[in-house]
Amino acid sequence: MKYRTDDIMPPPIVKLAEAAKRFIKSPGFLNLGQGLPGHIPPDDAITVLKDRLSHPATHVYTPDEGLLELREELSLYLRQKSGIDANPQDEIIITAGANNAFLGAILTLVGPNQNIIMPTPYYFNSVMAVKLLGADVKEAPVNSSFQPRVEDIEAAIDKNTRAIFIITPNNPTGAVYEKRTIDGIVDLCIQHDIMLISDETYSRMVFDDATHYSPRSRRDAENHVVTLGSFSKDFGMSGWRVGFTIGSAEFIREFLKVQDSITICAPTAGQMLALEVLKKGLDTVEQEIQRLSRLRDLAYLRMREIDALEEIYTKGTFYLFPRVKGCTDSRKLVTDILQSTGTLILPGSIFGDAGEGHVRISIGPLTPEAVDEAFDRLSKFFNDD
Ligand SMILES: Cc1ncc(COP(=O)(O)O)c(C=O)c1O
Repeated sequence: MKYRTDDIMPPPIVKLAEAAKRFIKSPGFLNLGQGLPGHIPPDDAITVLKDRLSHPATHVYTPDEGLLELREELSLYLRQKSGIDANPQDEIIITAGANNAFLGAILTLVGPNQNIIMPTPYYFNSVMAVKLLGADVKEAPVNSSFQPRVEDIEAAIDKNTRAIFIITPNNPTGAVYEKRTIDGIVDLCIQHDIMLISDETYSRMVFDDATHYSPRSRRDAENHVVTLGSFSKDFGMSGWRVGFTIGSAEFIREFLKVQDSITICAPTAGQMLALEVLKKGLDTVEQEIQRLSRLRDLAYLRMREIDALEEIYTKGTFYLFPRVKGCTDSRKLVTDILQSTGTLILPGSIFGDAGEGHVRISIGPLTPEAVDEAFDRLSKFFNDD
């Protein structure tokens, strides 16, 4: 049978999990592969949801665009945290996660043989989604601090370009994009009348002196920016599948056609939980971000002991994306690391050719002791080599 997905790469994490299978059950296995934050929603919010479980409304669809109360609460939250002014009535849709939001956005905007520009290393799921549409990804390089350059993005624009896609803070690099770069990209979008799709899945996870800048906060950008968000990482709710899309009322009207034909609405119970987290859980989320900050400090400190890992310090997320000296096959390297140390990290090459020679180390769900143990093992692996 010929499938239209034949040419699309298989989900890389699934393949790696397959390879790691025989290690996963062993007591010493350390998973620094998966992009999880390590916290779950606060008890208060879970208790409210438990009380609602026997209520019929929890078991039926919400409106396609999501619970109005959640959209209203989200709109307040985004105004406060990201300076985004979005009308909960017609500029916000709750989606089944940010991946669903991205697919919806590109199905709304991009047709076969058109293209979307992405700084690379990229987030592989976005490339898979673009290819599913029969559209193309045009890659734009980043500089040595993983920041995109406006001139490289401009050079990639052609008559078939429909959108520019950025992720800030970034997966896999952890880079928090600078305001002037983002503004430069918004200017390009306005000038060429194309859309900036801004994935802000990790918007709370910024550290040191970095701040998260949301392009939608620019008043003149409302018709040229679509914002994607998620409850998976900042709020520790990846299993509930709740995210959101923000765009102009016109864009959201079009997006609803995709939403109705794919998921109809995001899971109802997840939306209810998200609402409670926004109402009751923001302090807990902040504490978790502080925990991640300390964990990052420890991980960077320990990484500096390993000569083979060239640090590229970034100020966002729970990912480290060092270059490995002399490495030209990161897939083989992580397999060797897994086999000799029982520790899973991801090869940079799954994030595109620009990621080759790097590895992604995710520390989100680890305790400080586990971070120490992981770097002890990596140290032994590289130093004995
Ligand atoms: C940049 C980015 N966008 C989207 C997602 C998917 O998020 P969700 O669970 O909300 O679909 C991820 C998950 O790793 C991500 O890193």
